[in-house]
Amino acid sequence: MNDGKIKTGTPGLDRMLHGGFVPHRPYIVSGAPGSGKTVLSMQFLLEGIQGGERCLFVALEEPPNEIKQNMRSFRWPVDDIEMLDGNSDVRRFEPTPVIEISTEVEPVKMREIEDRIRKTPDFESHEVTVHSLQQLLKNTFIKRRYERVVVDSMTALKYFCMREFEETLTTQSFMRFLAESKVTSLLTVELPESGDVPPETFLARGEVRLHKLRDETGIKRFISVEKYKGSSHDEFVYPFEIRESGIVVLSAEGGKAPAPL
Ligand SMILES: Nc1ncnc2c1ncn2[C@@H]1O[C@H](COP(=O)(O)OP(=O)(O)O)[C@@H](O)[C@H]1O
Ligand SMILES: [Mg+2]
Repeated sequence: MNDGKIKTGTPGLDRMLHGGFVPHRPYIVSGAPGSGKTVLSMQFLLEGIQGGERCLFVALEEPPNEIKQNMRSFRWPVDDIEMLDGNSDVRRFEPTPVIEISTEVEPVKMREIEDRIRKTPDFESHEVTVHSLQQLLKNTFIKRRYERVVVDSMTALKYFCMREFEETLTTQSFMRFLAESKVTSLLTVELPESGDVPPETFLARGEVRLHKLRDETGIKRFISVEKYKGSSHDEFVYPFEIRESGIVVLSAEGGKAPAPL
């Protein structure tokens, strides 16, 4: 059944999700660095743009111009995607080195983003808070309504900012805010090699996980739906490739499943 579901922009993933995402809910795409999270999120927004929806990419890990450059090799029509730069236009609070995203930052269309090289900010000495991002998005949503929003990544956002005891509550409140704003959102989460599963993965309504493995022939990529509240879904792990057209999910016969999951 795909009643009322929206397409993710990755046809193979839509099949795995039995039609796509239930709209107006927050979802997680998790995986190791370089597993394809940003590419998958961009495809999610492009699908919206092609359907005439308003889409917003919140860039917290790489500056927008770098993302624009990275996406160029795909030859996608990304011009109408709007980008909110969480890397720049920040305010410094002394004496503690806390930086808040200014609530005055405005989204800029991808076509207007300059190609000049800007250094990726050093998050080590700063804090960008979930609260300030929520406030910024609130201001943005008052001015205009977005159908799809990507936050890339939640990991960068909270890496240095949250006391451990606050993490679950703050993330939960952020996801509730996104759901109440009636946007379908995709939040990227970097998965640690081992250890605790980040709280987003159990707070989100669904989790798509990207696996990156190396064998003697090179890097192999796999995709799975770890959970999907309120819907049936495929429980197989499928191989996928990143091609010029983007992420292509292959049939299960093409590769062997990673272990352990
Ligand atoms: N045009 C392309 N063609 C094929 N593969 C690409 C292309 N662009 C990026 N990739 C692959 O995608 C990977 C990066 O994916 P990305 O979505 O940025 O990962 P993540 O966000 O999970 O860190 C690169 O390491 C590269 O292997
Ligand atoms: Mg990324």
